[in-house]
Amino acid sequence: MVDSTTFAEILKPENRAAPNELWAQLREEPVSRQDDGTWVVTGYNEVRALAADPRISADFRTGMSAEELAAVGAPGEGGSVGGNFVVEDPPAHDRDRAKAMKHFGPPHRPGFVASLEGAIQRYVDTSLDRLRGQEQMDVVADFSYPLPVRVICDVLGVPPEDEPQFSLWTTAISLQASPDLRDDPVASQQADVASQQAAAYMYGLIQRRKVDPGNDMISDMVSDTSEDRLTDQQIISNAIILLIAGHETTVNAVSSGILLLLRNPETAELLRERPELMPGAFEEILRLEPPVQFRDRRTLSDIDIAGVTIPRFATVQLSYAAANRDPNRFADPDRFDPEREDNQHLSFNTGLHYCFGAPLARLEGILALRTWLRRVQNPRLLVDPPPYRRSPALRGPSELLVGFDEIL
Ligand code: HEM
Repeated sequence: MVDSTTFAEILKPENRAAPNELWAQLREEPVSRQDDGTWVVTGYNEVRALAADPRISADFRTGMSAEELAAVGAPGEGGSVGGNFVVEDPPAHDRDRAKAMKHFGPPHRPGFVASLEGAIQRYVDTSLDRLRGQEQMDVVADFSYPLPVRVICDVLGVPPEDEPQFSLWTTAISLQASPDLRDDPVASQQADVASQQAAAYMYGLIQRRKVDPGNDMISDMVSDTSEDRLTDQQIISNAIILLIAGHETTVNAVSSGILLLLRNPETAELLRERPELMPGAFEEILRLEPPVQFRDRRTLSDIDIAGVTIPRFATVQLSYAAANRDPNRFADPDRFDPEREDNQHLSFNTGLHYCFGAPLARLEGILALRTWLRRVQNPRLLVDPPPYRRSPALRGPSELLVGFDEIL
């Protein structure tokens, strides 16, 4: 039997820097019931199977009583949560996701992500140019954070000067998604206020883009006259999802990537000599240090899996972090190997909730890490392990101090 309090340990801030030993303990039973009634899924095959299982719901309202549903102000099972497809099930999920996705990628806007490459490279270089003459940087504040945030603002058409407000809003909204804070009244209230403020801001931006359109997603959404166009409410909801995704994930991927490279100097040297290996290295970084460590789901019926029965309406945590280091799936799973073949990690999930922004995240991560390694001379970690951000689910360093000789 695995310890039924290990997941609670993983949630504690003091274990944020090194959760993998705890995940390994949980993985001894690929599906385990924890003291708090949560089921945690840690085996690769089991996470993959459940992520694609129609008996699993992403809708947090699943199993709620009529009173609870009334309290969250949501309609009955299976309906739409205001176009927020991250927490919807089919058919609403597929319909709302398709309506949003058409403004982001193929087939409607095939070249959109690729067209951002020049701007991304410029933002990366500008961040490093600013550090010339210094001897140390905080990788998070000086490098990883500004890039995805600036890019997602460009993607949406948010003026860069408005961005500082969003970092407060997105932190408040995403912290509320942490299992340990879900019932915390202060966190809930802060998340509600932040959601209202973000929605009010987006409403104003939508009105501006209706009269003054640009080459961005919000302009594209508001000028859509087709039958499957989004309502203003859905555009607001999508814009907030994308802002959170842009603020909370790629930042952590780049920071954790630099940390991993500095802890593995031979691999960093190999990548300096052979920058063409960076796409494979970025996949390894995602596998080893997933920015989204786990996500919760609900069961719609009893599910038999790995010798146990998860009952109906149970909360299930799918751990991408544990699955990615499952020795039954990956040879030598803790090794950082940019040349690993067959790296089907689950850091972008799989199935119907597969990450919408994966192509953009990959483009940003590869350009950022390649440029950082090339331009930052003789980098060394000043604090190891670094301090981490609060969230156990969206995990990454809050500060990463690195000393260096010069910036080329
Ligand atoms: C390295 C960076 C990123 C990582 C690791 C990541 C990871 C993930 C994961 C694991 C999911 C599935 C969540 C679940 O299982 O419930 C997801 C969904 C999603 N991601 Fe990302 N993401 C990243 C960057 C981005 C970016 C840059 C965007 C926006 C452009 C984005 C937009 C989304 C959206 C909209 C969904 C919801 C998809 C759905 O529910 O159908 N992500 N992402």
